[in-house]
Amino acid sequence: MAHNVLMIMPGFPGEMPYFTRGLSLQGATVWGVAPGHVSELPELARTHLSHYLSLPSLFTDEAAAIAAIREWTRGVTIDRVSCLWEPGVELAAAIREGLGTPGQSREQARRFRNKELMKLALGEAGVRVPRHRAATTAAEVREGAEAVGFPCIIKPIAGAGSQDTFRCDSMAEVDAALAQLGHIAEVSVEEFIDGEEFTYDTICAGGEIKYFHVGYYRPRPLVARTVEWISPQTLSYRHVDDPWVAGGRAMGEQVLRALGFDTGFTHMEWYRKSDGEVVFGEVAARPPGARTVDLMNFSSDADLFTGWAEAEVHGTFSLEIERKYNCACITKRAQGQGRIRAIEGMDRVRARCGDALVAVDLLPVGSPRRDWKATLLSDGYVSIRHPDWQETKDLADFVGEQLHLYAG
Ligand SMILES: Nc1ncnc2c1ncn2[C@@H]1O[C@H](COP(=O)(O)OP(=O)(O)OP(=O)(O)O)[C@@H](O)[C@H]1O
Ligand SMILES: [Mg+2]
Repeated sequence: MAHNVLMIMPGFPGEMPYFTRGLSLQGATVWGVAPGHVSELPELARTHLSHYLSLPSLFTDEAAAIAAIREWTRGVTIDRVSCLWEPGVELAAAIREGLGTPGQSREQARRFRNKELMKLALGEAGVRVPRHRAATTAAEVREGAEAVGFPCIIKPIAGAGSQDTFRCDSMAEVDAALAQLGHIAEVSVEEFIDGEEFTYDTICAGGEIKYFHVGYYRPRPLVARTVEWISPQTLSYRHVDDPWVAGGRAMGEQVLRALGFDTGFTHMEWYRKSDGEVVFGEVAARPPGARTVDLMNFSSDADLFTGWAEAEVHGTFSLEIERKYNCACITKRAQGQGRIRAIEGMDRVRARCGDALVAVDLLPVGSPRRDWKATLLSDGYVSIRHPDWQETKDLADFVGEQLHLYAG
């Protein structure tokens, strides 16, 4: 058993305290490290940490961070190093190396972060990846676009949250994207895949897939990220034995094998074209964000925060997973700028959804709007669940259409 688990970012983003809690419920002594002062930790994280190190340079000076952590844990064997937040995945691997802790290596971690290395490794393993080129200069971006063809996608090599991601239908649009991209050192230029977008998410232990989940985005994230009036939906799909998702599941298994994933959460995105062809999107060595683990929990009445922790601490997974529901998380963006002044339509949503309504977390009246481009959760969300897929989508659309937040 892993007695001592070092958790990078135990309190942020929002879901992290639940993972921290999971580790402690599984019997681990949890050592938390983050840049912030201990007083910034949410109560739940603080309760389940045994030790906390505030390290302002954690993400800015790797060598200093490793030295400080070694000093702090001197005389203690750290059995696992966990980080469930994308920007810390490679750092976690570097810390493992520095402490001599087993787990994902730096080289493995890099293939989960760098979208070019990822696609090269997967292409070699026979996975259908989009045609792609790496580029560090404007000329290389243009050459890349020529090579992969139009429409193409230009995106950061280690991005998250669809930021700085551009679809270009012509060289003129490539030039327009380049003008906005000035600050990014390296980009991926990809063949644009026209299709529906899914996820394949897992908890693995000892190289085996112990739990998997299939998610679906409505609409495609790039569209959701570009059009403000949309209420984007993330769905959890119940009928995982359906042929609709069989190709994605098989690809997911192939990807994890090819990248040698051992223990922890993974989050893969994949496309399904109208002709049924399945294409790889990206894969991360962490859970999906934006409350998707909550959807997994609602869909099976399970606690996968603790399920993950069991895999991490004991190398086992003993939850019995029964897929009872589809779920949807509908995020809302207020109309107008400034502070939320009214929320309208929750009564209709409650009446229509009844027991299907499982979570409501909207910014209260008076709070400032969030930046809808910078946060996936926008100004709040509503989650619903239902055994029937069509009804799940209908309920989600009802929430999208009938619930309004007004700012100004
Ligand atoms: N080759 C492609 N073909 C079609 N759409 C694409 C392609 N690459 C990216 N996209 C669109 O852009 C979105 C963001 O791209 P990607 O998932 O690679 O970046 P990301 O910033 O890591 O995303 P996130 O963190 O939001 O999952 C995708 O979900 C998809 O909608
Ligand atoms: Mg993505």
